[in-house]
Amino acid sequence: MSTDTVKHEQWSSRMSYMLAATGAAVGLGNIWKFPYIMGENGGGAFVLVYFACILLIGIPVMMSEVLIGKVGRQAPARSARLVSQQSGGSGKWSIVGWFGSLTGFLILSFYVVIAGWALAYTYYGFNGMFTDQTAVQIDSLFRGLNASGAELMAWSGAVVLTTTLVVGLGVKDGLERSVNWMMPALFVLLLVMVGYASQHGDMPAALKFMFNADFSKLSWNGVLVALGHAFFTLSLASGIMTMYGAYLPAGTSLVKTSIYIAVMDTVVAILAGIAIYPIVFANGLEPGAGPGLIFQTLPIAFGSMPGGQIFGGLFFLMLVVAALTSALALIESSVAWLVENRGFKRMQAAVVSGAVIWLLSLTTVFSISGAEWTKITLFGNETTMFGILDFTTSNIMLPVGGLLTALFVGYVVKRSVTEQAIDSSAAIYTFWRVCVRYVAPIAIVLVFLQLSGLVSF
Ligand code: PHE
Repeated sequence: MSTDTVKHEQWSSRMSYMLAATGAAVGLGNIWKFPYIMGENGGGAFVLVYFACILLIGIPVMMSEVLIGKVGRQAPARSARLVSQQSGGSGKWSIVGWFGSLTGFLILSFYVVIAGWALAYTYYGFNGMFTDQTAVQIDSLFRGLNASGAELMAWSGAVVLTTTLVVGLGVKDGLERSVNWMMPALFVLLLVMVGYASQHGDMPAALKFMFNADFSKLSWNGVLVALGHAFFTLSLASGIMTMYGAYLPAGTSLVKTSIYIAVMDTVVAILAGIAIYPIVFANGLEPGAGPGLIFQTLPIAFGSMPGGQIFGGLFFLMLVVAALTSALALIESSVAWLVENRGFKRMQAAVVSGAVIWLLSLTTVFSISGAEWTKITLFGNETTMFGILDFTTSNIMLPVGGLLTALFVGYVVKRSVTEQAIDSSAAIYTFWRVCVRYVAPIAIVLVFLQLSGLVSF
């Protein structure tokens, strides 16, 4: 291997890696996004497609990404280049790494704004600002927050600052130490919320909605949403798994840890649905309310429920914790890149990355607050820069990045390298290889072709 590598820290144990990687995976996607996209795309029918995407595409691609990091031991772009060269491939395959890091960086720029909403709502909840409010009043609370660019900047700025400081402290002293208590706290909060929902919500209606498959509501677009979400929720194609894989202690099983992370992530998404929908149904609210489900619909319910002030606050606190552990992961690969390529100290690299992210986040902040310069008309549709960022990253860049990763690891990297890194039974290795060589690429291309109207099923 070439000599221009930088020695990074490693996780102190397999457990720390799993907590950090699960923390990266579990985030706003599980608690904010999954319930509403499920609601919009036919409940249980969507869940089935989503499970298939996780099993056949998500887990194999996750293993591939971690593999690149585990073999390369550098930030994503350099790891991919080294792994390619080691197999006699072109250095240009570094695209697999830098495209991912770029996607992660763009995602983070709007992720911190949504996390900022959650932080604001934690404050509102604990301060009783939902109590006895009508739907109209709750709506104006949300509008008030969003109308003020300054307020949004402050809340998302607080998220950026926290992320920057923690990551700046290093892999062991920053990342590891924070996830060691944040992840258990997240699970406790989630279980408390499920308990609360089963006491005060309409559980049978929720379970029926979540697990009754209504295939008439599932469109091809819904399939793409399921595929894009499988990537988003597992934090794939964004440089993260390669970066965290680069810090893996020797002898850690790629197969077991990847399955564990995917299972935990899915369990959290389902539990989040079980915490949210009973409350939605018991209060006669609209389950397919879209992105506003959590911020516009749920507070109305908390405002009229027993103990709603505490539990409303706790719910949003849970969202903040989940978002923070993902934000840490999203910024890590750019920090490691600056350390490798610019010779920065970690804290310096974190501050520079944080500053750039905060500046980029302003496009989302001002899209939300309705500034004229963020409005764009694309193919005759009015949208905003935030709309374009969200759509392009989740629905285009993540699947394309996943496709590149699958092709790279499936066809360019030598079989002997992948066999050694995966280090599992022949059956599992073959399953993985068939998924990355055939199932994942074909599925991703078909969904794109279908949507572009070039083929139709
Ligand atoms: N997986 C995170 C979530 O579900 C989001 C994320 C996407 C994080 C991509 C990192 C990279 O919220």
